[in-house]
Amino acid sequence: MSELNLILLGPPGAGKGTQADKLKDDFGLPYIGTGDLLRKHKEEETDLGREAKSYMDNGDLVPDDLIISMILHKVEDEGDDGFLLDGFPRTVGQADALSEELDKLGRRLTAALSIDAPDEVVLQRLSGRRQCSNGHLYHVEFDPPKHPDVCDQDGKPLVRRKDDEPDTVKKRLATYHKATEPLKDYYDERGLLRRFDGTRDKTEVHDHIRATLATLRLEERL
Ligand code: AP5
Ligand code: MG
Repeated sequence: MSELNLILLGPPGAGKGTQADKLKDDFGLPYIGTGDLLRKHKEEETDLGREAKSYMDNGDLVPDDLIISMILHKVEDEGDDGFLLDGFPRTVGQADALSEELDKLGRRLTAALSIDAPDEVVLQRLSGRRQCSNGHLYHVEFDPPKHPDVCDQDGKPLVRRKDDEPDTVKKRLATYHKATEPLKDYYDERGLLRRFDGTRDKTEVHDHIRATLATLRLEERL
């Protein structure tokens, strides 16, 4: 079976983490979530976590030089047989760095999966998002836990992310449109972009992505 080297693109709240959680199990891929990794660094108060904190809390991107080496090491360490990257790349500089690294390793990206959602949907979703410290995701209205504020999967308390305050979400959206959205054209020009409507039910989005990946694999075998 050919390896799957995938990236997930899309605005905050489009459902990248929600879909990644399913896709990593479907395809047995190591999940490399930049936001989760950075939040762990913040929690553990590492040098990187201390540096990243103010950018993240303000809804800005953490500078490329801090992110690129962190993620490329992860890809080298864990991504030998494929990977699912969520939240990287987010700038053209990061995309070029990933492409150079894969060229060096004689590998290539399978697809950039872009999940789209308009700003008003994002604002509604992120105001109701809750998650546990293991990253399991819920929404108070669209995907509530069985018991309020307790994770169904591990019993941990559910909390609201600090950067989900509406003003910070607006800033994250502006950052997305300016720095990350141009990557859709970047990957389209390279024939790698696949687009999904993130406003659909999460099961429908999942089915659509799975079907697209199955077709891509078939085409590779022809
Ligand atoms: P990160 O953690 O990656 O945040 P993000 O990209 O803003 O995306 P989110 O995690 O907020 O949204 P999501 O698309 O995963 O949606 P989710 O599945 O949770 O990054 C955080 C910060 O780290 C950045 O702002 C930046 O500072 C820094 N950073 C990260 N990567 C970086 C990089 N490469 N370079 C520089 N800085 C970087 O879903 C959202 C909610 O909606 C949930 O409640 C869910 O239950 C619900 N939901 C999901 N799908 C559906 C559906 N189909 N229908 C209804 N509800 C749904
Ligand atoms: Mg996420």
